[in-house]
Amino acid sequence: MKFAASDHLKDLSRRDIKVLMAIERGMYSSRRVDIDTISRISSISTDKLSFHLSRLNKFKMCEFWKGANSGYSLTVHGYDALALDWLFDHKHIQSIGRRIGVGKESQLFFALDFEGVEKVIKVHRVGLTSFVHIKKSRDYSIKGSQVNYITASASSAKREFIMLRRLHELNLSSPVPYVINRHCIIMELIVGADLFRLTDHPDPENLLDKIIEFMHQMFVQLELVHSDLSEHNIMISQPDGEPYFIDFPQTIPIDHPSATVQLRRDINNILIYFKRKFLIGGDLEEIFDYITGGLDLSEIERLRLDYEMSPTDVTYPDFPDDKFKE
Ligand SMILES: Nc1ncnc2c1ncn2[C@@H]1O[C@H](COP(=O)(O)OP(=O)(O)O)[C@@H](O)[C@H]1O
Ligand SMILES: [Mg+2]
Repeated sequence: MKFAASDHLKDLSRRDIKVLMAIERGMYSSRRVDIDTISRISSISTDKLSFHLSRLNKFKMCEFWKGANSGYSLTVHGYDALALDWLFDHKHIQSIGRRIGVGKESQLFFALDFEGVEKVIKVHRVGLTSFVHIKKSRDYSIKGSQVNYITASASSAKREFIMLRRLHELNLSSPVPYVINRHCIIMELIVGADLFRLTDHPDPENLLDKIIEFMHQMFVQLELVHSDLSEHNIMISQPDGEPYFIDFPQTIPIDHPSATVQLRRDINNILIYFKRKFLIGGDLEEIFDYITGGLDLSEIERLRLDYEMSPTDVTYPDFPDDKFKE
């Protein structure tokens, strides 16, 4: 399956993009954006706007809502198109390839940069009733909670990007995060397979040690707990068999009220998997103590992590003024 928005992007003019951006901006203060507001934000006259709006409607990138609260809103495709347009325009990627995977709240595709290096684009989709439902029904509107979808997906991507960057700074083993725009992250492609697909490994004990060591480093150096760690969120690189850790939007600081519960669950998931697959194991509480370095978690109150990033690092939300000039 391909990325639908990337197919239609070539058919869009700069003005179409400008109209989408105006709707996006309008949606930060109102669920539906009337044509006068779109015209004011985009500096395109309402006469000319009708043409662009009906084209965008045809591509299922925006839609019109009748009734008391009438106006336009972006669809899933429209929001995708804005992020992709920015990534293409700023020369971060030159093309998008086939889909790598689809989760409950994300889709991943291959992407090619301008040096010919294959990367991954992870598209966060949080706050839709069910993306699977949308796929089946081919209904790409963001009903009722448009703003939720946009802000929830963008902030999930932002959280993951920050986590990946912090892990990368410490040389911990996870994909290198390159750039983020809105709800899309471009990251390093890990050539390998998910741990749960592994049929064999030359040294499973060593692999388990490395996973525990990763949790330990993440805990003591970054003061974070993954919170969704399992054989589904660890990739094993080929051919060297090294573990890479992925999927970080749910990561929490160690002073989060459920940090200990989540950490025990992460450890338990891994232990159950290794016991079933390789018949090796360990003691959950001993491993917990090792990972936490014997820290008394009930004492921790001082560690409120600040997830702020400097504005130059993050390109969300992104409304470059030059795009609004004719
Ligand atoms: N950087 C990557 N390189 C290669 N494949 C990846 C990468 N990140 C994720 N994947 C693949 O995509 C799947 C889904 O990605 P993940 O980040 O776990 O999202 P989800 O929230 O949908 O589970 C993974 O199980 C893995 O197979
Ligand atoms: Mg996952």
